[in-house]
Amino acid sequence: MKEIKIETNLTVFDHFDELPEDVKNLMNKASDARLKSYSPYSKFSVGAAILLENEEIITGSNQENASYPSGLCAERTAIFYAGAMYPEVKMLRMAIIAGSSQHPTVTPVPPCGACRQSIAEYEVKQEAPIEIYFMGETGKVVKSDSLSNLLPLIFDKSQL
Ligand code: THU
Repeated sequence: MKEIKIETNLTVFDHFDELPEDVKNLMNKASDARLKSYSPYSKFSVGAAILLENEEIITGSNQENASYPSGLCAERTAIFYAGAMYPEVKMLRMAIIAGSSQHPTVTPVPPCGACRQSIAEYEVKQEAPIEIYFMGETGKVVKSDSLSNLLPLIFDKSQL
């Protein structure tokens, strides 16, 4: 028997202004997408923007449903659209911004588990990491060099 320790590396930017210009641009696209969120039930709106290797930017927002589980998160709305429209083009980076209309959201909002699993699938597919940046409406921004930092021990096709 042995114990294993799993560590992860993240970079924290204290403020949006510290981000590189191209990342600011992507986060602004996510912020624009967030305005199109359909979230009457949770009142929690999320925007995501994905930079592709062909320099296209694909965006998405959370889309809710009266039958709650039928809704979809912003990250998966965006990544499935990118996968459907550009199946052969690598995804380089995803920016995520989220917040509630009921109270200020000042801490970074990471992607949920189902979104992490979905993003991981595309990292495996393209055999290259996807950088993830996430934030609340204001405050710190967290960067992960790869989705795998956020989801160790992924379930992938190698287990099938
Ligand atoms: N949501 C996202 O869009 N992304 C996440 O990673 C977490 C949650 C959405 C789903 C739902 O519309 C609302 O936020 C509240 O859970």
